[in-house]
Parts: sequence; structure tokens; C-alpha cells
Amino acid sequence: MDDVTDTVFRQIVHGCAPADLYMTEFVNVDVLQSPGREKLLPKLKVAASEGPVIAQIWGKNPENYYKTVLELHEMGFVGVDINMGCPVKNVVQSGCCSALINNRGLTGEILSAVGEAAREVADETGQDFPVSVKTRLGLKAIDYTWHEFLLQHKLNMLTIHARTTKEMSKVPAHWDDLTPIRELRDKLSPTTLLVGNGDVRDRKHGEELAKQYKLDGIMIGRGIFDDPYALSSSSPWTDMTKAEKVALYRKHVELFAETWQNNERRVVTLNKFCKIYINGFPNAKELREELMAARDTDALLEILDKA
Ligand SMILES: Cc1cc2nc3c(=O)[nH]c(=O)nc-3n(C[C@H](O)[C@H](O)[C@H](O)COP(=O)(O)O)c2cc1C
Repeated sequence: MDDVTDTVFRQIVHGCAPADLYMTEFVNVDVLQSPGREKLLPKLKVAASEGPVIAQIWGKNPENYYKTVLELHEMGFVGVDINMGCPVKNVVQSGCCSALINNRGLTGEILSAVGEAAREVADETGQDFPVSVKTRLGLKAIDYTWHEFLLQHKLNMLTIHARTTKEMSKVPAHWDDLTPIRELRDKLSPTTLLVGNGDVRDRKHGEELAKQYKLDGIMIGRGIFDDPYALSSSSPWTDMTKAEKVALYRKHVELFAETWQNNERRVVTLNKFCKIYINGFPNAKELREELMAARDTDALLEILDKA
């Protein structure tokens, strides 16, 4: 999730209850292969103490995808995911992400370029460099010809956010509509792992859905905002004390300060996380207000220590 799942937050989540696989924020290959690349590199930072991470990329130019995939392997990612589902207006208007659903020509070129780079990595290392796509049910309406098209490209993994682009995240996810995609997968590309996404609260909920819809995996996004232990099979979060929750946010702020010493990420981005931890105990709202007004990590740590 953009501005959320950076190396700092992934390390915190991994320490609470590890996911099997993580994905970075989406990173634009056309910017990455331009003189402006420096500003994107923090999104691709990975620490040794993390679990396996896939880099998620987006953009327009197939050659930039090709060059980026070769770099991602060098950086230590375990695979690459192409974002073909982001619904943000200016992204779609630029012909990227969800707009690819209606541009099979460019999608084919992108998949060929990424596939070629992944094959080169595999030839060189003797190990697969998996390629996956994350997309939606369709652009304005469900369009299974899109999933059929993608599955003809023998992806290693296909993740479906069970809504159309038009629906953004404004309606409940349509899990039943994943079944025809699973049937297409079984017929066209049985080795492609199929992952469902949308409104999954935690691991237990995800495992139930995977079983019900015969999927290989589940992706959890916003569930982590309600419980940093969402990936646990039995989360302790609701029973945790104020002191424990404050200590976990402190750990996050400290790791943030240590990781982004040159202000690669702005301190205000921490406000996105504050409500995760500072929640569910008396006067949490007042404490959040105080924390969100802080302008640097020293001030944040001081308030947390007092709390
Ligand atoms: C703040 C935020 C940032 C997101 N950024 C990305 C992104 O960079 N790449 C992506 O594939 N999806 C992104 N998403 C979408 C989520 O990955 C997910 O598909 C969507 O929220 C539905 O799943 P959920 O109900 O588990 O959150 C983002 C969602 C949110 C709320």
C-alpha cells in the first residue's frame, strides 16, 4: 500500500506476526529509469530482518519495465508484481495500471518485456524470478476476457482485488465473482497461483475465504490498520494494554527515525499509523491529537515516553 508498506512498517508487522510474503508500495518504472529515480529509491529499501518481499511496479514503457526487473533482482527482491488495478484518476488517465484492462496491446508488450528480463535472471542464477500481476474484476464492469488474456501469459501468480475499478473500494468485495476466474485458471494455467483480495480482516478470515473459493492465497491490505497482528492465527491485539500499544508505536517511530535519517520520508507520514496503535484505551483520541501535532520524531518519542 502506497505510503504505508515501506520497510519500516513491514519490519513492525513481521515482528508481530509474519506474513508469508510482502509487497512494496507501487513504484513507477518510467520515473525509476529517469534522472528523478532517487526520490523513488526509499520505496525499494529492504532490510535484512524482513520476510520475503516482492517489488510492485507500474508504468507505461516496456523497456523501462525490462530494465527495472533486472535491477529488482539485484536489489534482493524475490519477485516482481505489476500493478494493473490502481484506480487513482490521474494514474488511469495516464494509461497505466487499471487502464491496461482496456489496452491488451500494451499489456502484452509489458508482460513480454518483464518475462524476458525474468528469464534472463533465471538463466543467470538458475533460479526462477517469479512474475505476478495484481488487478481487478474489470474496469467499469466485470470482464473475464481480461483474466483469460492474463492467464494466457502463464504468470506465476495473479492477485484479484474483487471489485471493478469504477467501484474503487466503495462497495463490499464480490468474492463470488472470483470463481469464474479460478475456473479459467484451472483450465488455462493451472500453475498460476490465484490470490484473492478485498475486505479480509485477518489470517483466519482469509484462510476461510481461500478454502471456500479454492484459492491459493489471500492478500490483506487495510486489515492491518485495525490490527498489526492481523497475520497471526490468534491475535492478542484486543487484549493488549495501553503500555504495550504505546511501546509498539514507539518501536515504529524509533525504527522510522533510524531508517530515514536524511528525511527520505516525511514525519507526517507517521500520522497514518498513529491510529493503529493509539486506539482502544481511555483518552486514546487526546493522545493521538497530541502525537499528530508533533513535527519531528524526537517530539513524538518524548510524548510516547510520557504516555
Ligand atoms: C492507502 C492505500 C494505498 C494503496 N496502495 C496500493 C498500491 O501501491 N498497490 C496496490 O496494488 N494496491 C494498493 N492499494 C489497494 C490495496 O492493496 C487493496 O487492494 C485494497 O485496499 C483492497 O484490499 P483490502 O480490503 O485488504 O484493503 C492501496 C490501498 C490503500 C488503502
